[in-house]
This record gives sequence, structure tokens and C-alpha cells, in this order.
Amino acid sequence: MEIIKTDSYDIIIEKGAFLNLADHLRKLDPGMLHLIVDSRVYRLYQEMLPTAMGDLPYTVNLVRDGEESKSFATYQEVLARLLDKNIRRDDTIVALGGGVIGDLAGFLAATIYRGIDFVQVPTTLLSMVDSSIGGKTALNLPQGKNLVGAFHMPKKVLIDPNFLNTLPEKELLSGLVETYKHALLGDAALLEKLSADHAVDETVIKDAIDVKKSIVASDPYDRNERHVLNFGHTFGHAIERQRKFSGITHGEAVAEGMVMALQIGVRLGITPPSLLEDIKTFMLDKRLISEPLLDYRDFLFEIRTDKKTHRNGIRFVFLEDYQKPLIKDVALEDLG
Ligand SMILES: NC(=O)c1ccc[n+]([C@@H]2O[C@H](COP(=O)([O-])OP(=O)(O)OC[C@H]3O[C@@H](n4cnc5c(N)ncnc54)[C@H](O)[C@@H]3O)[C@@H](O)[C@H]2O)c1
Repeated sequence: MEIIKTDSYDIIIEKGAFLNLADHLRKLDPGMLHLIVDSRVYRLYQEMLPTAMGDLPYTVNLVRDGEESKSFATYQEVLARLLDKNIRRDDTIVALGGGVIGDLAGFLAATIYRGIDFVQVPTTLLSMVDSSIGGKTALNLPQGKNLVGAFHMPKKVLIDPNFLNTLPEKELLSGLVETYKHALLGDAALLEKLSADHAVDETVIKDAIDVKKSIVASDPYDRNERHVLNFGHTFGHAIERQRKFSGITHGEAVAEGMVMALQIGVRLGITPPSLLEDIKTFMLDKRLISEPLLDYRDFLFEIRTDKKTHRNGIRFVFLEDYQKPLIKDVALEDLG
């Protein structure tokens, strides 16, 4: 078992940990546990739930799987269900699913009675290495992604890599993009492992989390340094928004967005052309992107109307080199 400690919660990585969920939860004195689960994860894991939860009291609250569920409509629907079940201030919400469930359940936990406890049990690679860590919760609006949200730290993150056994390859690749992003931002040894086709195991998950954990620790409320985690997300979010959040995984959009940021970095003289080529080759080789690549010029309208633009232009994360990110605001005219 690996235990990663943060200032406010522990991240536990252990194969088979889901079956001991009750032991991990009991230590938190959780009250009634309200599980928010996506329908696909529930179908796959419902038979294990009684063992996982042991003698702890719990309710199951199903949400349709998919990005569309990170919406106000679903939020209100689940909120009403929880209130009808008399959820109490000292109860605990458990997010059992991928990043969509983590963001939605986290936002519910952040807002019900102005904040109750919650635990993350991520079931996708992306949610294990990224979205369950760092306390960001969010909903999407028609105007854009993650426009409403709150910082609300979980009480615990319990990662069982066995969940990956049922994860479709497309979703595994999506999580690999964020794993690769973390390696590019802060871990040369992890980059080596990924280049060498190292299996996604506890060590890869731990290494990727360590990068995110240390970046978050330097800037928990995303005022400055934490922005580097948005590498690939400026265009990534624009792509998702243009596609109306469907038909493309978050990782696929971010991978294309990473190439676009590197291309703009090259144009601005920040990114060496050889770095762009190396990263592109790596991502093509690992099937994180495929040709023909999207053209960033097709997404400039989305970028222009992004609600999260900054005073000085569009905020980008560029790479000057491996593990050398640079945050810079670029005026729209300079994007071409
Ligand atoms: N809060 C943050 O810091 C943060 C960071 C990165 C991404 N995100 C958000 O995370 C979301 C993407 O998360 P995601 O990629 O996990 O998507 P997701 O939650 O939609 O899960 C992807 C699909 O995998 C299925 N699934 C989940 N676990 C499974 C399993 N073990 N076996 C089989 N199928 C399984 C789900 O039902 C779903 O269909 C986006 O909304 C993104 O904005 C948040």
C-alpha cells in the first residue's frame, strides 16, 4: 500500500482497496455515507458494493454516465434526492466514478449545508492521477466548462488500480494524457517509464500524483503556479466546448490542446521546434493523438469567447523544455 500525505488528507493507493472501503471510511467517523455513482460504474461494481461497504450505512445515488452529468440539472436532481433522504451535516458523500462524478459529488459536498465531508474513490486513470487530487470541484454551463465550482478538499482519496481492469482503452488513453502531462511538467523519471512502455501500475499512478500534489501544495487556490496544470487545457476546453462535451474524451481534447500550445510556443519563440516534434512523435506513437491533427485556428472563436480569459489576453502554459513550463498571457492578435 502506498500512502501519499497532503496537508489535509491522505491518498491511499492499493490494489483491492475497494473491497476494504469500509475499513478506510470507518476511521473518518462518516455518519451516513451517500454514494454518488455513475450508472456504468454501478452496473460493473454493484455486486461488490455490499462487501465494500460492510456494516456501514449507505445510500446509492445514481447519475447517468458522461460529461453531460456535470450540469446544474443533475446537481439539482441529486441534491433533491439527498435532501429527501435527510442527508445530515455530519454525513459523508462518496464519489465513486471518474472525474465527472468526482467534480459533481465534490461540488454537492462543497455546497450542501455550506460544506460537508466527502471522499473520492476514483475509478478512471484520469481521476486517479488528476481530478481526485487537489480539491477542485465544478459544473459545466452551456457557456463553458467548469464555470461554476468550489475548492473543497476530500477527507480521503482511495485509489484501487483494479478498477482499471474494466476501463475501456479509450478512457485509459485519456488518463495517460494527463499522466504524460504531469511527467512533462515535473518528472523526468516518469517520462522515462512512459517512454519505456512501463505498465500503468501503482508506481506510475503514485509518480503522477506526486507531481500534481507538489504543484497544488505551492498554490492550493490556483492563483499562479497551479496554472501550469492547465497545459493543453486552453485549447482542450475550447475543443470540448465546440464538440458540446460529447464524442471526445477530456484526455483526447487536452492532448490536441498540448500540441496546439506547443505550436504557438514555437511561433512565439518560447518552445524549441525539436521539442514540439519529439512530443508529437511520442504522442502519435502512444496513440494519445492521431492524424490528421486538429488545427488550432479552427478553435479561435471558442478561445475568443472563453469566459475565463485574463485581463492581458489568453492564458497559456508553454514548455521551454521538458519540466520547464512557462505561464504567459497572449494577446488574441498574436494567435494568428
Ligand atoms: N477537478 C479536477 O481537478 C479535474 C482535473 C482533470 C479533469 N477533471 C474533469 O474530469 C472529467 C473527466 O474525467 P474522466 O475522464 O474520469 O471521465 P468520466 O468520469 O466521464 O469517465 C469516463 C467514462 O468511463 C466510465 N468508467 C469510469 N470508471 C470505469 C471503470 N472502472 N470501468 C469501466 N468504465 C468506467 C464512466 O462511466 C464514463 O463513461 C472532466 O469533466 C474534466 O473536466 C477535473
